[in-house]
This record gives sequence, C-alpha cells and structure tokens, in this order.
Amino acid sequence: MVDCTIGFGGHSRLILERIQPGGRLLGVDRDEAALEVAEATLAGQDRSGPAPVLRRGDFRDLAQIAREAGFDRADGVLFDLGVSSPQLDDPARGFSFRKDGPLDMRMDRRSPLTAAQVVNQLPERDLARLIRRLGEERWAARIARFIVDRRPLRTTLQLAAAVEAAIPRAAWPADIHPATRTFQAVRMHVNDELGALAEGLGGALEILLPAGRLVVIAFHSLEDAAVKRFLALESRDCICPPQVPVCACDHRASLRILTRKPIRPTPAEAAENPRSRSARLRAASRL
Ligand SMILES: C[S@@+](CC[C@H](N)C(=O)[O-])C[C@H]1O[C@@H](n2cnc3c(N)ncnc32)[C@H](O)[C@@H]1O
Repeated sequence: MVDCTIGFGGHSRLILERIQPGGRLLGVDRDEAALEVAEATLAGQDRSGPAPVLRRGDFRDLAQIAREAGFDRADGVLFDLGVSSPQLDDPARGFSFRKDGPLDMRMDRRSPLTAAQVVNQLPERDLARLIRRLGEERWAARIARFIVDRRPLRTTLQLAAAVEAAIPRAAWPADIHPATRTFQAVRMHVNDELGALAEGLGGALEILLPAGRLVVIAFHSLEDAAVKRFLALESRDCICPPQVPVCACDHRASLRILTRKPIRPTPAEAAENPRSRSARLRAASRL
C-alpha cells in the first residue's frame, strides 16, 4: 500500500493494522516534520510484518519514489490532500490566520517559494486572479488591492487583517473566517497543489496492480473536480470529442469508478471533527 500523504500517520496506522501479516506500506510526505512524527507513531505500533518505509518527497514524483523504495507495484494508493491539522495549528509554519507567524505556508521547507513572496511580489492583477481562482473568493479584486496598499506584509495576522479590511463586514461569511479563502488560495499556489495532484494521479495509475484501489480525499472543490475529471477520463475507452464520428484516440479505460457520488462525512463525524466537513472521498479500482 502507498500512502502518498502520510502526514502524522493516522491513516497509515489503520492501514497497517489491516494488512498484517506480510503487507508492506510506503508512506510519502514532502514535509519533514510530518515524517518524523509519522515514524514515531508507527514505531510504537504492535506489528508482526515488515516495518513501513517512509520517504520524503513530492507525490508528483510518485512512480519514481515508489520504484526507488521497492514499491513499483501497489495494491492501493491513498491521497489525503491538503495540509494536516498539526501543520495548520503550528504558527511557525505560517498557515494560520488565527495565530501570528511568518508568511511561509510551504509544506516542504526546502522549496524556494514562500507566501511572503506571493503576497508581496505578485502584481495586483495576478494576485487578484489567484485569489479568485484558487480561493473562489468573490472579493478577490478588493483583497488584492488592500494587500498591495499594505505591502510589505510580514506575518499571517497582517495578511488576515488586510483581508478582513477588504471584505465589508456585512459580507463576511457566516461559517468560516473571512480570510479562509485567501489563505487557501495562497497556500495552494505556494505548494502548486493542483499541479502536484494531476501528476500524482498519473503516477498512481502507473504503479497500481489490476484490482488495486485508488482513494483520494479532497477538501477543496477545485481539487475534487480535478479528481472527478481524472476518474471520468480514465474510466472511458474513447475520449474523442463528441463531434468526431470515428474514434481516433486509442484511449483505453484503466479504472472503474467505485463512488458515483463522493463519500462525505456523516453529521456525527463532522460534529466530532469539524475539519472533516468539506471532505469528499472518491475511489476507483484499477482494471
Ligand atoms: C491532510 S494531511 C494527511 C494526514 C494523514 N492522512 C494522517 O492521517 O495523519 C496531508 C499531508 O500531505 C502532505 N502533502 C500535501 N501535498 C503533498 C505532495 N504533493 N507530496 C507529498 N506530500 C504532500 C502534507 O505535507 C500533509 O502532511
């Protein structure tokens, strides 16, 4: 099994319980801090089979990471997208609009692009476009203007304050912090989350064995839409546009969709774990 987003090891711990004896698990994450915690979590687990293999890396390179770790074929590949709660809750990582920290937001602290660069260096128009697209934020243009007026922004609370000032109070969302969408947009851009997802899904197809399962949990509508599109495309034989009379694409289905509609948390789970509220799980089986 390959857990492409091992995070703090919650899913992997449960997967390991179910694949004993003999099942092997590869856990990947691009965040070194997460891997250290995952390693400690899994080390404390009672196990009869082989120890999990953990690798730091971006799941956009999944096929290569898996091959190098001796997992070139897998029975299951899991993606649990986005950031983890410990990442969100650590102000030093710069993901939080509630606690002050540097404008960082990198999952992989070796990567060159930080949130500070995005917020302080992008032209206003590009910043507005990014916030509108990745944040699905209708106040994007005003937010970008307020950010540019307040440059340079150094901390997460300065960014949150710029967003709060930009959105008229009467238009603040009822259920989320007004800066949620802007932070999400900047974070997704800093980490190229949609680009990594597209490549990672392709990598999963390469390594999955027939009847192997692909499972993706998305928290963002654009991510879920990308997963849905990928599954739809890869579960069809012909992907020619409808106006083409005879198939010329030679495309062959490689997946069977197992979830016509995404699986959502039950009301009880959402109440117990509010961060699960927006989760959507989609699964497919390799043909
Ligand atoms: C929602 S958390 C996963 C939590 C995990 N399932 C658990 O049970 O603890 C997402 C994790 O994926 C990692 N991640 C996000 N995008 C990644 C990518 N492109 N490559 C590798 N890891 C990534 C993040 O660093 C984070 O630790």
